[in-house]
Amino acid sequence: MKRILTLAATTLVAACCTQPKFDGPVYLNPNAPVEERVEDALSRMTLEEKVGMTTAQSKFSSRGVPRLGIPEVWHTDGPHGIRPEVLWDDWDQAGWTNDSCTAFPALINLAATWDKELSLLYGRSIGEEARYRKKDILLGPGINICRTPLNGRNFEYMGEDPYLAGKMVVPYVKGVQEKGVAACVKHFAVNNQEFQRTQSNSVVDDRTLYEIYLPAFKAAVVEGNAWSIMGSYNLYNGQFNCHNKRLLMDILKGEWGFDGVVVSDWGGCRDDEEAVLNGLDIEMGTWTNGLRGAASDSYRNYHMANPYLKGLREGKYTTKELDDKVRRILRLIFRTSMRPEPNYGRFVCPEHYQAARDISAAGVVLLKNDNNTLPLNVPEGGKILLVGENVVKKMVVGGGSSNLKTAYEVNPLEGIQSAYGDKAQVIWARGYVGDTSTSYNLVDTGQNLTDTRTPQELIEEAVEQAKDADYVIFVGGLNKSRNQDNESTDRLQITLPYGQEDVILALAEVAKNLVVVNISGSPVAMPWADRVDAIVQGWYGGTESGNALADVLIGKVNPSGRLPFSVPFKYEHGPIQTEAQYPGVKEDGDKFWQTHYSEGVYIGYRWYSTKEIPVQFPFGHGLSYTTFEYTDAKAAKPYMKADGKLKISLDVANTGSLDGAEIVQLYIADPESSIDRPVKELKGFEKVWLKAGEKKTVTFDIDAESLSYFDADKHEWVAEPGEFQVLLGSSSEDIKAMVSFQLK
Ligand code: BGC
Repeated sequence: MKRILTLAATTLVAACCTQPKFDGPVYLNPNAPVEERVEDALSRMTLEEKVGMTTAQSKFSSRGVPRLGIPEVWHTDGPHGIRPEVLWDDWDQAGWTNDSCTAFPALINLAATWDKELSLLYGRSIGEEARYRKKDILLGPGINICRTPLNGRNFEYMGEDPYLAGKMVVPYVKGVQEKGVAACVKHFAVNNQEFQRTQSNSVVDDRTLYEIYLPAFKAAVVEGNAWSIMGSYNLYNGQFNCHNKRLLMDILKGEWGFDGVVVSDWGGCRDDEEAVLNGLDIEMGTWTNGLRGAASDSYRNYHMANPYLKGLREGKYTTKELDDKVRRILRLIFRTSMRPEPNYGRFVCPEHYQAARDISAAGVVLLKNDNNTLPLNVPEGGKILLVGENVVKKMVVGGGSSNLKTAYEVNPLEGIQSAYGDKAQVIWARGYVGDTSTSYNLVDTGQNLTDTRTPQELIEEAVEQAKDADYVIFVGGLNKSRNQDNESTDRLQITLPYGQEDVILALAEVAKNLVVVNISGSPVAMPWADRVDAIVQGWYGGTESGNALADVLIGKVNPSGRLPFSVPFKYEHGPIQTEAQYPGVKEDGDKFWQTHYSEGVYIGYRWYSTKEIPVQFPFGHGLSYTTFEYTDAKAAKPYMKADGKLKISLDVANTGSLDGAEIVQLYIADPESSIDRPVKELKGFEKVWLKAGEKKTVTFDIDAESLSYFDADKHEWVAEPGEFQVLLGSSSEDIKAMVSFQLK
């Protein structure tokens, strides 16, 4: 019997491990280990072929090795959907009719879900869309920290807190890469404004760099294992970031052991020698010569094309750097287009629409809800008046490189109308005129929003309609045009543009129930907040945005989104108080603008909480249609050892009558610190689903990393022994329980 079993087992092992013999070269063998394939391919390449791989050959592709059957690498924006095709060497639309994608919610909307599973779903879904479109590198996610509310690209990023951004970026990266597409995490690093983005030097101390601006990137690389990263346009330490030695060689490839590809931002490479020596792997361009003007046969003129080849031939460079770059690019190709498991992706399918809707709805934040104004409770045959340009404006088009051509886009008017059918009258009044442009980067919205009425006429119309409405819902905020939430320009003010405050105040005089929905990708000050019954923070929700918003307003989805940034009363209350901090200064003789991050680690709630400056709505804030109670918070032990862990637990109960989700937030305070530290810092969060009346125990593990600050002199993380406090709450200001322990 024993013999038969042994025989059977041997046969099984032999059967399952026998691969058909592969006759070709190792690099073409899909079952050979990636590193063997890389070395084999490298050994077969000429110098010219190697150099060829390090630069663009068109707007969105870089070279492969045609002689060896190694495909070119296709890049695409990113980060909210797959960009429509442009011409080979021109920014004009290619005019394809099959490149209208699913527009997923802006990344700030994803961050507002505080939901790691939804981030994975996002990554997988957009990864599938990229794979279907035969893209190898998705230019996203963006994770630059929201340092100033005015940064035009905050909507493409994940908020003001490095821990939140770090936890949310990892599943996105993993989800994309699971589909055989490289995520390209951007823009590395300290790139926190659009003003003079290619001419501004971020002056930031090491503690601030390591505590605030690097952790999300580190998480994406070390935990997420991102296969590529994009250098940013700005300078740090006086050197352009696409070939910044400290950022790329010392930190990214040195300290973090990154084995992927550094891609330049488009036209961000500025120097031949630095590009070769300081860690850039692929140079991509904006204009045809990679810089700021067109030239014929331009890609050959890129810093890392002919000048590099010349330098190699003349002995200025050895092949050491070149082989390292090519190894990385080959590795990326074997992980993506030449990977063993076939994967063709899928595109504009019901599953992706549903994912977009679920993610968008989960990120909608209920900021204020006096007298349970929401969810809407409209009598049969009642009247809902929607006011504002953003009720109808198509928002997927615009914003810069994240501009998309989408299969369709549901606006709030359509979303709410379809929720009510003929059970209620849902009508719209314009209220104000904001941005009436009809196309962006040659993608047409197909919408004509021209309106020649005066602001007064528009307000009068809305007020008249509001008088007998059961609900008035103002949907305004920003949009994705110049000086709003938009790449390459910053906002000009923190308050609402286009005279919207006048409209809200006029409606407040007559409306029975006034709800304001602010659609934006960055904080908007709301001096009118006391005058309205309910406030909702919505985002650029993509294809399904109107349905997602309606889901929350009507109560189909119980809101569980939380603010990924603080909303101050006034811009002046914030940490940026001088021109030197923002937008930066350029003294006589300076080549570049100098932006001084002199507020150090005190940005967002770290600033407001520590300085005890009240805010309109704190970081982490968001209401639900139900209520939650926190009890029995405790630490497993009264102390923790430096190399150990400590379990923190608490019970959370849903004390209302509706099912819902709470985002339990854990902040750490170090009251005995020998250096200045923020009074609290986010170090844990969990989304907990609770049926009405249900109670669950939530646990967190604390370790030394959660307790440390970065000691710049020693260049290491330090957790000082002594008392620590764990603050558990539902926002940075609403702390419901506190537990102390000693670090030994
Ligand atoms: C942007 C990047 C983008 C690239 C390609 C640049 O201008 O900064 O985020 O991925 O263009 O479109």
